[in-house]
Order: sequence, then C-alpha cells, then structure tokens
Amino acid sequence: MTQLLIDQLHDTLLEALGLAFPDLPKNEQHIEIGPATSEKFGHYQCNSAMRLARSLKQPPQKIAEAIVENMDRDGLESIEIAGPGFINLTLHPLFLSNRLQGVLKDHRLGIPKPMQALKIVVEFSSPNIAKEMHVGHLRSTIIGDAIARLFEYLGHNVIRLNHVGDWGTAFGMLIVYMREEVPKVLGGTQRADLSSLMHWYRESKKRFDTDPEFKTRARLAVVELQGGGEKALKAWKFICDVSRSSFQEIYDLLEVKIEERGESYYNPQLAPIVADLMKRKVAETSEGAKCIFIEGIDLPLMIEKSDGGFTYDTTDIAAMKDRVDHEKADRVIIVTDSGQSLHFKLIYEACIKAGYLDPKKLRFDHVPFGVVLGSDGKKFKTRSGETEKLIDLLKTSVKQAHAILTEKEHDLSKEEIDDLSQILGIDAVKYADLSSNRISDYIFSYDKMLRFEGNTAAFILYSYVRINGIKRKANHVDISTLSGKETISLVHLTEISLGLHLLRFGEVLRKFADDLLPHCLTDYLYQLAGKFNLFFRDCKVVGSREESSRLLLCEVAAKTMKQGLHILGLRTVERM
Ligand code: ARG
Repeated sequence: MTQLLIDQLHDTLLEALGLAFPDLPKNEQHIEIGPATSEKFGHYQCNSAMRLARSLKQPPQKIAEAIVENMDRDGLESIEIAGPGFINLTLHPLFLSNRLQGVLKDHRLGIPKPMQALKIVVEFSSPNIAKEMHVGHLRSTIIGDAIARLFEYLGHNVIRLNHVGDWGTAFGMLIVYMREEVPKVLGGTQRADLSSLMHWYRESKKRFDTDPEFKTRARLAVVELQGGGEKALKAWKFICDVSRSSFQEIYDLLEVKIEERGESYYNPQLAPIVADLMKRKVAETSEGAKCIFIEGIDLPLMIEKSDGGFTYDTTDIAAMKDRVDHEKADRVIIVTDSGQSLHFKLIYEACIKAGYLDPKKLRFDHVPFGVVLGSDGKKFKTRSGETEKLIDLLKTSVKQAHAILTEKEHDLSKEEIDDLSQILGIDAVKYADLSSNRISDYIFSYDKMLRFEGNTAAFILYSYVRINGIKRKANHVDISTLSGKETISLVHLTEISLGLHLLRFGEVLRKFADDLLPHCLTDYLYQLAGKFNLFFRDCKVVGSREESSRLLLCEVAAKTMKQGLHILGLRTVERM
C-alpha cells in the first residue's frame, strides 16, 4: 500500500519526536508538515518545534535538534534547521526517482485507496422547473461535477443528485393558465418549449395578482395536485418534461451526469416530519406558522406557513433526513450560491437539534460560490439586458474558440478544428470557473478564458499536447515496453522539481476533498505545466543519453495532467 510522501515524512518525524521526548504523550497532531515555501529551502518543512516549545518547556531550536538527531534519514538528502526551529527536509533524488517509478506502474498514480469507501451525496445544479437555468446554476453544475468526479476517482461511492425546484404553489397558477389559454398544449396536439413555459408562467403570475377568481382556481389546482389528482399530475409532468429536456441539452454539452431527485420526491415525507418536529417541541407555533428557532440566529426556519403549506425549508429538512436514513450517507455536500449559506446553516442546526443528523457520523458541507460578473463588474447579463441563456453562453464560447483556432497557424483539417473548438470552448468555460477561488465573485470574459497564455484551459491543454508531441517524436520506442525495463532517474534540477510535483498529486487531491476548493487543483495543473516547460527547456529528451528516463518522466507527467483535467471535468485532446 503506497503512502503519500507527506504522510511518510510525517510519520518519520513523529517517530523521531517520540524517541527524543519519550515522556510526551503520543499525539499525531504534534507534528505538522507542509510543502516548503520555496524549493530553495527544501521540499517539505515542519514548524512543530515552535508549537511544542511551551509544553516541552524548551527552546524550539533545541527541540528541532533533538528531533533531527533521532530521525531516520532514509530517503532524505538533507535535513536542515533554519530560523527559530524550522526543520527543512530535502528528499534524495534517488528516492524520488524510485517513488515515481512506482507511480508509473500504478493505475491509481500512487494515490492510496481510501481505508473505507464512503457514501457521499453530492447535490448540485438544481435548477427550477419552468425557468431557464442561469449562470448560477452553471457554476453549481461545473463545481459540483468536479467534486463528484474527485470522490469517484478517490474510490468513494458517490450519488449525484439534482434537487430541481419542481414543486410548489406556482404550479397551480401555471396549470390553470395553460388549461385556459393553451389547452392544445396540455392536450398534446401543440408543441411547447421552455421559453413558452416561461412566458405563460409570467402571464399566469400577472393574472394571479389581478384576477381574484383566477387566484381561487389556481389555489384549487394546487390542492388538486397535492392531493394526487390525475389530471393535474399529468399537466405537471408535462411541464417538468419540457423543462427537463432543455436542462438535458446543457448537461449533454457539459458532459455532466446527474440523477434527478427534485423537491417533489420529498412531498410525502413533509407532513409527518412537521408533526414529529411539533410533537417533540423542536418546532413551535409563531404567528400562526410553525417555526424552528436556532439559538444565536435571528431568522427562524418556517416549516409550515399559516395557510398550511410547506416550504423550501421543510423540503430541505426532509432531504437531509432522507440522505441520513435512506442513503446512509457519510457525507453530504450541497453546492449553491453563497446567498443560501444562512439557509443551510439553519437546516444543519435544525437537523442536529431534531436528532435527524449526528455531526459525529455525518459531515455536511454547504459549498457556496460567488456571483458571475460581466466585464463591467455588474451581474452577468447579455447585451439585451436579459439574463444570459446558458445554452447560448456555451455555444458562444465554442464559436469564439472556433474563430481563434481557425486564425492560428495550424495543419488541422476542418473536422479537427470543429471537434477541437467544441472541446476547447467548453473546457475554457469550466476552467475559468474552477480556477477562480469559488468563494469570490468571478468575471466572465470569453477573451480571457480562451487565451493561450496564463492560467487557462487552452494553456494547460496545449502543454498536454506538447508532452504527447515529444512522445510521438520518439516513435522508435514503445512507452509501455519501456516502462517495463527502464527506470526513471531524476538528475537535473528541473527534473527533480517536476518529479517531486508529480508525487504531490495525491496530496493536492486530499486537500481538495477536504476544503472542496477546485482552484487548488487548477493551480497544481498550472504549476505542473510550468515545471514541465522548464524541464523541457533545460533537458533534451529525444536523442539524448537520458532518453528512456526522460520519456518515462513525460509519461507520468502526461498521465497526471490528463487525470487532473478529467477530475475537473475537462476533456483533453491529443493534437492542437
Ligand atoms: N432550486 C434552487 C435554486 O435555484 C437550488 C436548490 C438548492 N438545493 C437545496 N437543497 N435547497 O436556487
């Protein structure tokens, strides 16, 4: 079983600490280790001597010295104490070479299997029926898909859920309007698309607000729908189907797989849950409504309105409970805009209070993200002022990628350019989103995201193509035979630096799994491309004495880059 470099060093340091200070109670957390701030100082750095000074009643310098004296130096080239007691560790090139050789042969690229596969619910995308998906849903889809792919790759059991907004009083209004104004649509003899649904929705809302009789009919339709009335259900299903096929078009373009489990799924569970919460006095009546108050937060959750209707809050409590009870989830992750952070904090606290969720057994993360801005710094809109339709936005990116690729000097056929622009256009949108810190707002710019320089999809893809170009140039060797008989030997500084970076892939993925920040992985890939370019600048590959070793290094670099991009949901190309 492979161990991550960082864990191996951690254990070595911990053992040395135990030998140096046998009276200190054993505690994993006594040793903390991270990558060195600069490769000038070494590969990894441990600052624990400073933190242990107080409990050991000794100066950090002394503690560091004692640890170093007791350390097993296997695999290390140098150990240095710097400043007040930093321990800088530099790994031996031979050791790194051997480790990398192991990665080359491992289909998991040296990433340890999880001790136990966890059941992880990743809820993302979640648009609303009878409404267009907007850029917020695009962010949720891209980020959520990357998170789901990450856990799948790590070897966990992932369920991807689309919590679509498919239930609520608004459907009563829309159904009545459609019955009265466009009966042929519901009758199945006239076609409809999402735009027409949205139009009817707006019209029905207008009528609802001005015509009291219409309002009554709409309310009755809601009762009919919630009571399971066949005709109302049929109309509702039709509306959902039309919306669904328009969402699917986007998922297909993005190559995102997701299982729909919308709000309506939880409908039968709502009344019993509210009754349970009331009975156990977790909820109370306040101004005619049933609410849950959480200490320290002014806003309560409203689980039943005074008219008896259930809410977004009720559904989310039911969803959480369902994921605990039926899905037996170890982890639940929900990806939405940061505007819903307070909502999910309330849901989480309420579920703990009700005993529906045990925080020791289940980890819940709301994964918030910022808004998408236009280049003017305002909320992203199209020129006409309407919120941009998602599908158009993606198609524009593909079109612009096409124009850029056509202009570039190349020897690609028309078909190749078509395929390439499809991949690059979509990759660019995804990468731009994932590479910005998800918590901040991000500026949407086709120009920026389609550049070939800087931290962009095009740059990374191009680097990947270059690595493959080298492998292609060496057409006299077969890489898979080569890896069976030749070894990697890291000698040049740029080789060592690249090799070390490749060995850190698992470390980065683990961090991503913990903080759920995709930009850590894009940063890693960007650095990988940079380190590869330095290596390629300084080290001749094909035709050199070190050809075999270097080709194998290229192979690990290519595999790692491809895998990293795959986790982010980006497609790679072999030529560009
Ligand atoms: N449909 C909601 C929206 O468009 C997002 C749903 C998020 N998930 C949840 N469990 N509430 O804003």
